[in-house]
Amino acid sequence: MIRPRLRSELWFGGNDLNGFLHRAWLKAEGLADDAFRGRPVIGIANSWSEATNCNSHLRTVAEHVKRGVWRAGGFPLEFPVISLSEPLMKPTTMLFRNLMAMDVEECIRALPFDGVVLLSGCDKTTPAMLMGAASADVPAVMVTGGPMLRGMYGTEPLGSGTDVWRYWDEFRAGRLDEEAWCEMENCISRSTGHCMVMGTASTMASLAEALGMTLPGNAAIPAPDARRLALAEASGKRIVEMVAGDLRPTRILTREAFENAIRVDMAIGGSTNAIVHLAAIAGRVGVPLPLSVFDRISRETPFIANVRPSGQYLMEDFFYAGGLPAVLRELAPLLHNDALTVSGTGIGETVKTARVWNREVIVPLDRPLGREGGTVILYGNLCPDGAVLKQTAAAPHLLRHRGRAVVFESKHDLMARVNDAALDVDETSVLVQKLGGPRGGPGMPEWGQLPIPEKLLRRGIKDMVRISDARMSGTSYGACVLHVSPESAVGGPLALVQSGDEIELDVGGRRLTLHVADEELAGRRARWTPPRPAFTRGYGKLYLQHVLQAHEGADFDFLRGGPGQDLEPYLPTSH
Ligand code: FES
Repeated sequence: MIRPRLRSELWFGGNDLNGFLHRAWLKAEGLADDAFRGRPVIGIANSWSEATNCNSHLRTVAEHVKRGVWRAGGFPLEFPVISLSEPLMKPTTMLFRNLMAMDVEECIRALPFDGVVLLSGCDKTTPAMLMGAASADVPAVMVTGGPMLRGMYGTEPLGSGTDVWRYWDEFRAGRLDEEAWCEMENCISRSTGHCMVMGTASTMASLAEALGMTLPGNAAIPAPDARRLALAEASGKRIVEMVAGDLRPTRILTREAFENAIRVDMAIGGSTNAIVHLAAIAGRVGVPLPLSVFDRISRETPFIANVRPSGQYLMEDFFYAGGLPAVLRELAPLLHNDALTVSGTGIGETVKTARVWNREVIVPLDRPLGREGGTVILYGNLCPDGAVLKQTAAAPHLLRHRGRAVVFESKHDLMARVNDAALDVDETSVLVQKLGGPRGGPGMPEWGQLPIPEKLLRRGIKDMVRISDARMSGTSYGACVLHVSPESAVGGPLALVQSGDEIELDVGGRRLTLHVADEELAGRRARWTPPRPAFTRGYGKLYLQHVLQAHEGADFDFLRGGPGQDLEPYLPTSH
């Protein structure tokens, strides 16, 4: 078979029965023949949903992408994909990230697209889009929805999530009255867009930009800012050029690109969730990304973005300070500047004129906020395959700590007992929760910021060492050891911890140690029984059968590797 100039010509190019059918049915939408014949077909994968407030403006963004596609001589077709609503979806959006990635991949491959524009916003929608597009491997550019404007309570800026957790603790401790608490509910989310701290959505938008999958400047433009729509139009124009140049995700998502993304994650104090998502995206293109790479880059990378929850400011301030291009320029001595981007040039070239407008928000590399990156990787007999902790968001006095475990066997156990006045706990205790991992949650929910017991909150205790195999919201903070791997539900050592055991956290030494003798642990293991599976049918059953552990990205085993494979069954055949 002679390979056509465009993939879409296999659908629309011939004068046979197939060509007739594909064109005739498309014309039902009121399209003239020359609207699409011979033009690159650009899919616009839209995760718009009224149930996902963070993505609820993406229909408007799509219209501006279309404008760019038309201007460049392409033919845009907007199509829906699953949307994942962080606040509303239960039990957790992470349970469905891989499902959304499959939706994106299969739609791109099954439809006549020569290129795609990926519209995402809320936390998991960005990694899911990147995973699907990487596997489908047709030219792709991402446009994220942008962060909300900063929340305002009186004259006080409020950050999504971060300030909710902070004031919830104040409310529980009786230091904030009900009127103020209710008023904050009206003030915190006052525009379209995703959470406007450096939570998971802002982090993943930043990492999409650092990977080279967006045009420069995409990550931080606030959702309501007109410049986001202009960038959407530019992205629509650019994808048509990318199709002509056959600039596919596999040419962009190289080892160097992932190292750049990890470097940026560490420099901006990004969400711990980014580690799971980057490992999953890398797994789709066959780039090995063990936790040791994160550890090495974390040790080498100064923390320079003063944005909550690790810092003081919000994403709106970060944008006015220069946004991600300014961070990339600042990090230039540490980056792979030749790593190819959707712009068609190396990432260093795309930011060479960027500048920092506010040195309070983006500080110089030689005068950082922290000598090391935001997230550290821990190892030890409690987490043989690793665990993560966000050191920039933890109380410094807890970064080296030894204490007695107070163990909760599950989330339900925790909720039932954590505020019990009789609970044997003090500020030196180490709170431990089991069954929060990929299989145990199930779906690895954001339970890792275990609540401080109320009796300690009332005494002014604001942070404690907490350990789980769960994730935590990117907006959260505290000395929380997360993603303990292997998880408790598959019999990882976390499953064997009992109340009263001594646990030692040594962030400087990157160690997490359970001080219990090996013979004692062997006895506990012999008595351990696995939990009953949470699902016996449907997608949940598929998830439990195939999900990988946190350090492997929690992707499905059968989705890793092989971008661009198995295309043959998708090609149109004669009727
Ligand atoms: Fe969507 Fe926070 S709830 S990004």
